[in-house]
Amino acid sequence: MNVTIIGTGYVGLVSAAVLAEIGHDVVCIDVNEEKIQRLRNGECPIFEKGLPELLEKNKHRMRFLSDYQQGCQDAAIIMIAVGTPEKKDGSANLSYVFGAAKEVCYNLDHDAILIVKSTVPIGTNDEVERIVQENLTKEIHVEVVSNPEFLSQGTAVSDMMQGYRIVAGCESDYAREKIKALYEPLKQPLVLTDRRSAEMIKYASNDFLALKISYINEIANLCECLGANVEDVATGMGFDPRIGDKFLRAGIGYGGSCFPKDTKALHWMAIQNDYEIKTVKAAITVNENQKFRLLQKAKNYYDSFEGIEIAVLGLAFKPGTDDLREAPSLAIIPALLEDGAKIRAWDPCAEDAFRGQVDNSAKGEIRFCGSLRESLREADLCLILTEWDQVKALTPADFKEMRRPIIIDGRNCFCLEDMENEAIVYASIGRKTVGSLSQNLNIYMMERKDGES
Ligand SMILES: NC(=O)c1ccc[n+]([C@@H]2O[C@H](COP(=O)([O-])OP(=O)(O)OC[C@H]3O[C@@H](n4cnc5c(N)ncnc54)[C@H](O)[C@@H]3O)[C@@H](O)[C@H]2O)c1
Repeated sequence: MNVTIIGTGYVGLVSAAVLAEIGHDVVCIDVNEEKIQRLRNGECPIFEKGLPELLEKNKHRMRFLSDYQQGCQDAAIIMIAVGTPEKKDGSANLSYVFGAAKEVCYNLDHDAILIVKSTVPIGTNDEVERIVQENLTKEIHVEVVSNPEFLSQGTAVSDMMQGYRIVAGCESDYAREKIKALYEPLKQPLVLTDRRSAEMIKYASNDFLALKISYINEIANLCECLGANVEDVATGMGFDPRIGDKFLRAGIGYGGSCFPKDTKALHWMAIQNDYEIKTVKAAITVNENQKFRLLQKAKNYYDSFEGIEIAVLGLAFKPGTDDLREAPSLAIIPALLEDGAKIRAWDPCAEDAFRGQVDNSAKGEIRFCGSLRESLREADLCLILTEWDQVKALTPADFKEMRRPIIIDGRNCFCLEDMENEAIVYASIGRKTVGSLSQNLNIYMMERKDGES
């Protein structure tokens, strides 16, 4: 089939590559001409495992354009995969979706299925249909289908190729048949619903996962108070298939382009309908607070961070991506800089994106380090924000290169057994703090604290 995808972000570009892989001819449209040019040059503009290879393999079935008229020419299916970022009030910004829908109307001259793949509030597809009816310039038939996406960044290609299900909200048999034909080669369970239910499945799924993360994070915080180990607790819970063992890893909370905005959007939708969705509201609050657990723990060692050299390992919101959207680093690092800290940041791919976000007027300073070793050397404190494999491969000996090896691990990267009985301090989430500083360092820390008080 001829498929046109609007938006070449994480969802649009991965969808395009996967649909080409299963035999469709795909045209990608983006308003970002630089991105289109890079794609035409054979570059992959985002960091996503397996994507460059898939684009290369299927380049004979893919075209990249910034012109809607050319892009819509032969399309049987047009898929909108543009962003729906959060607005100040927590609602979703739908201007990109509506803008793309209008552009399609102005440029389409034949019948087609218009799929909305972006995550959109319940009822948005009805609104898109209204826009389509009002703006079509030819006597043609366009059916609007809700087809939310469930991929995760970092594993996006395999998530799409081997997805748990495909959800499509259609209002006619004609649309249902087209959707079946589009996805048939993927051999995945197809959940066909009405449009509003499909839209709700996306929010209900994402918000449930966010809730699960916030739940285990609260259990972790309580484990710390009560002397239990959250990793053992999660393992014990996870054997029960009613609970499942996924999304039970305690840490400093979720980030990224989906959970934070999708929880807030559902909360906002509920309020608009005179309902308060208390579980989701609680998940949002817990997540906001969880980001700062590392700083609270660090305060056990330093009353102030002024002049303290802090190795920050990981900037991206999770490993496997260069995406910084809603990453805990964006909240934690400015707070440290405000306090006068000297940050030595390391990330294998999100450094450039982070540079653009730094407020140079803060009291502290930030230096980007090309290696973990450079980041750790001379540091007085290490904060682990992203569980990159390179970080997980560090050993106590690596941390002993620090001036004061105090490690606060927001992602529970290491076994307690490997870190105890070492001349380092290792604090993590929901587990006891292990290790100790050498006598000399302990004396230094005590003197410093006395001097400050
Ligand atoms: N990123 C994820 O992991 C993920 C997973 C599932 C669902 N989603 C949802 O998918 C949607 C897209 O997310 P994303 O992360 O891919 O976004 P993104 O910001 O990475 O990409 C969006 C792209 O759309 C382009 N664009 C914007 N307006 C356009 C227009 N009018 N015409 C053509 N191109 C336009 C932008 O230039 C950009 O390249 C969002 O609704 C998001 O919530 C994202």
